[in-house]
Amino acid sequence: MDKVRVGIIGFGNMGSGHFGNIKSGRCPEIEVTAVADVKPARLEAAREASGGSVALFDDALKMLDSGLVDAAIVAVPHYDHPRYAMECFRRGIHVMVEKPAGVYTKQVREMNEAAAKSGVVFGMMFNQRTNCVYRKMRELVQSGKYGQIRRTNWLITNWFRSQAYYDSGDWRATWSGEGGGVLMNQCPHQLDLWQWICGMPARVSAHLSFGKWHDIEVEDDVTAYVEYPNGATGVFITTTGDGYGTNRFEVQMDGAKLVVEDDKLRVWEFAQPVPEFLKTCQTPFGSIEATEIQVETDGENPQHSGVLNAFAGAILRGEPLVAGGEEGIRGLTLSNAMHLSQWTGRTVELPLDEDEYFAQLQKHVAASRRKTNVREAFADTKGTYGGVK
Ligand SMILES: NC(=O)c1ccc[n+]([C@@H]2O[C@H](COP(=O)([O-])OP(=O)(O)OC[C@H]3O[C@@H](n4cnc5c(N)ncnc54)[C@H](O)[C@@H]3O)[C@@H](O)[C@H]2O)c1
Repeated sequence: MDKVRVGIIGFGNMGSGHFGNIKSGRCPEIEVTAVADVKPARLEAAREASGGSVALFDDALKMLDSGLVDAAIVAVPHYDHPRYAMECFRRGIHVMVEKPAGVYTKQVREMNEAAAKSGVVFGMMFNQRTNCVYRKMRELVQSGKYGQIRRTNWLITNWFRSQAYYDSGDWRATWSGEGGGVLMNQCPHQLDLWQWICGMPARVSAHLSFGKWHDIEVEDDVTAYVEYPNGATGVFITTTGDGYGTNRFEVQMDGAKLVVEDDKLRVWEFAQPVPEFLKTCQTPFGSIEATEIQVETDGENPQHSGVLNAFAGAILRGEPLVAGGEEGIRGLTLSNAMHLSQWTGRTVELPLDEDEYFAQLQKHVAASRRKTNVREAFADTKGTYGGVK
C-alpha cells in the first residue's frame, strides 16, 4: 500500500475541511475514496467537491463494510465519536477521531479498551499539538531544567461565538446533542495541551454559567481552579461571550516563567530557583533576576494536515502519531470534572467518579431542549443506551 484509502464520516464543517486539505495535496499519502453523511445535501456537497470521484454513503456502516476504505476520519457530532471508532476497530479499519474523544469518560474508556484489543492505528485530531510553540513549551517544561511547576494559568477567551453560530446546527449547545458548551466544543484543544504540557491535576473545582451570554442550555462561561499532585495550582478561564478575548497561557516554574501569547513563546530564566531565592534573599523587597532568553523553535505548525500525515505514516510505516486516540480521555476528564464540580457544588477528586458524572449528564440530557434524541445521545455499540434500555 503506498496510499491510505480514507473514508470520511460526517461531511460538515470539519469533514469537508479534511477533504479540502487532502484534495489540495497537503496529505500526499492519503486519498479520500468515500464519504458518509446522513444528510443528502452534505453528500451532494461531497459529490461536487470531489467531482464525483468518491463513493457516497447515507450510512457510515455501509461505507465501513464496502471494502473501499483502509481508514476512517470520524467528524460527526461528539456523542458518536466512540461509537464509530469502535465500529472501525471491529472491522480492522484504522481511525482518526475528531476532538473531543466523546462526551463522557465512561464511554471513552470503553472505546479505549476496544482500541487496545484491535491492533489498528487509532489517532485523535489534536491538531494544536503540531504548533511549534506548544511543542517547545512542553519540551522545556518537561525537561526538568526549570524544576517543578508552581502555577499554570490559561486565559482562553477568544472563542467568541454569536447566537447565529449556535443556531447553525440543532445539535449544537444542547445537552442531548453536544453534551456541553465551550468546554466540549471549543476548548478540547486547550484542555489537551494543558495536560500534555503540565500533566493532570489531582482535583478540580469550577464555576460554570449556563447560557449566560447566549440563548443556549450549556456553559458559555467557565472559571476553573485545579491542584496538582505536587501542590502547584492552576486556573483555566474560558468563554464564548467576550467581545475581544485573550489567549494567554502562562506556566510559572521554580527556574523560569514561560508564556505563550499571540502565537509566540516567551521564556524568562531566573538567576536562582525560586525556592532557594525565597530562603536566601536578605532584603525584604528583593526580587529575583529574570532574563528573557531567545527560544528557537522549528517554526512548523502543520495543524490538521500534520496530524493526518502522521496518521498515514503510522499506518504505512509504523511511525509515531501526533496524538494517540487513547489520550483523548485526559482532556475530557478535565471538562467532565469541571461540569461535575458545578453540578454538585464541590471539588472533584481525580480519577473522576465516572458513574456519578454519567448519572448527572443523563439528568441534563433528559431535560434538554432537543428531547427526541435522548436515546440517540447514549447510543452505544451494544444496543444499550448508556445502560438505559
Ligand atoms: N479539530 C478541529 O479543529 C475541529 C474543528 C471543528 C469541529 N471539530 C469537530 O468535528 C466534529 C463535527 O463538527 P462540525 O463543526 O463539522 O459539525 P457539522 O454539524 O458541521 O458537521 C457534522 C456532519 O456530520 C453529519 N452526521 C451527523 N450524524 C451522522 C452520522 N451518524 N453518520 C454520518 N454523518 C453524520 C451531519 O449531517 C453533518 O454533515 C465535532 O465533534 C467537532 O468538535 C473539530
